[in-house]
Amino acid sequence: MGVLLRILKWSSLVFGILIIGLLTILYTVFPKVDPAGDIIIDSSDEIIARGDYLANHVAVCIDCHSTRDWSYFSGPIIPGTEGIGGEKFGKEYGFPGTFYAKNITPAGIGDWTDGELHRLITTGVTRDWEPIFPLMPYPSYGKMDVEDMKSIIAYIRSLEPQENEVKESKADFPMNLIMRMIPKPAEPTTRPSPSDTLNYGKYLVTIAGCSECHTMAEKGKPVEGMSFAGGFEFKLPGGGIVRSANLTPDETTGVGNWEVDDFLDRFSAFIDPFGIETVPGGFNTVMPWTMYAGMTEEDLTAIFKYLQTLTPIENEVIVFSQ
Ligand code: HEC
Ligand code: HEC
Repeated sequence: MGVLLRILKWSSLVFGILIIGLLTILYTVFPKVDPAGDIIIDSSDEIIARGDYLANHVAVCIDCHSTRDWSYFSGPIIPGTEGIGGEKFGKEYGFPGTFYAKNITPAGIGDWTDGELHRLITTGVTRDWEPIFPLMPYPSYGKMDVEDMKSIIAYIRSLEPQENEVKESKADFPMNLIMRMIPKPAEPTTRPSPSDTLNYGKYLVTIAGCSECHTMAEKGKPVEGMSFAGGFEFKLPGGGIVRSANLTPDETTGVGNWEVDDFLDRFSAFIDPFGIETVPGGFNTVMPWTMYAGMTEEDLTAIFKYLQTLTPIENEVIVFSQ
């Protein structure tokens, strides 16, 4: 055998062993989070009401985990489908695989322990120790105050149980491997007092996942220096492309000239979720306006005031194109 062939044979063997070693590490060491905690979550009308508010109007869990009606602006959820899951996030919208939001009514997650649910929502790791795709903004939820997180769990446990078989999600290569390295231990914070307006606004913006949509990303990573400057592209279910707006206080391309009332009015325009019909291919948006419209004036005001403290970034966004 020629020397060259022998080198080739050995180097491919070494390469093969390396790959197998790396995969073994990926599948045994990752996702690297702690075992699900042994926690018991209290429930009361008050706790459930808080969870209802957060899950429907701030962290908007119910937005993704229900059926949306795209014949109306902003795709309001169809009443009666709260938590049943089944929404598909596939390649047609540019995702690296096909992901289905799961049934989070008690018929879907009834046999999960409180600790398992808590770990899934805050770290993205299932009870089978598998990572979920970060389309669900679990890195942000990991920063939520523990009491807020617990109230969300108490609330989803109070949903009407509805049978709905949801297909398995499947990530493409290499995302199926990359995904294993994303989960990290949760870093819960303490919810600031509402009188501490700016910190409270920042907390709400974090758990509402505003920056996930309002910051451009490349290969799943936010582009540096473009925080909240918009321009993230989404393909719409009815056709066309919508891009997130620039939320920084830049005077010409952002919201620098807005007063708090301009901001509040934008949201209150969606108080009736089925108020604005759309035509297929016409202007629509993935921004869950109809859900956020249920936020209190105090919370929206804190969000606006916090956004006004961001560094202004000049970034002209063409919000919609066919
Ligand atoms: C942007 C959309 C989105 C939002 C918002 C969202 N989820 Fe999810 N969720 C998903 C998707 C998609 C999956 C499945 C991911 C996968 O299979 O990789 C999922 C999975 C889950 C699961 C796993 C269930 C199972 O049977 O495996 C639970 C529990 C869950 N979400 C609860 C929540 C809660 C609670 C919130 C709010 C705090 C929330 N989700 C917000 C999209 C979302
Ligand atoms: C699922 C993605 C998504 C999320 C989450 C999201 N947005 Fe948006 N947002 C968009 C898109 C896309 C647009 C542009 C189209 C439109 O007006 O709806 C937009 C537009 C806006 C506008 C209009 C700005 C203008 O110049 O007209 C405001 C204000 C806004 N978002 C604030 C927020 C805040 C505050 C949050 C968090 C509480 C948030 N968004 C969360 C996608 C999102």
